[in-house]
Amino acid sequence: MAFIPLEQLSQLYDGYQRPFKVDGKALLLCQLEGKTFLIENRCPHMDVPLTDASQGAQCTLRCRAHGIEFSLLNGKANGPLGDTIERLRFYPIAYDGNKLGVDTDTL
Ligand code: FES
Repeated sequence: MAFIPLEQLSQLYDGYQRPFKVDGKALLLCQLEGKTFLIENRCPHMDVPLTDASQGAQCTLRCRAHGIEFSLLNGKANGPLGDTIERLRFYPIAYDGNKLGVDTDTL
């Protein structure tokens, strides 16, 4: 296990959204409605980074490329495409003191 710190807990706020690269993996750390998520920074529709995705109500991210909205609560695309598009990929968040990050064993 190797803990890689990504952010200080005190730096998180609703609306926070920042990309990271760890062990060659593109990650996106974001916080919405008091919940923190770490996902693969890739839209499952056509592999576009979600760095500039817009955050919406009920913990959603809308990809700017084609406007598909994904729920961060279950990873599914909202609407009729929900059962046809792959889900967002989540990574477990690891904590160490006042820092949040990722355990490289989980990547
Ligand atoms: S690439 Fe994200 S909606 Fe098409």
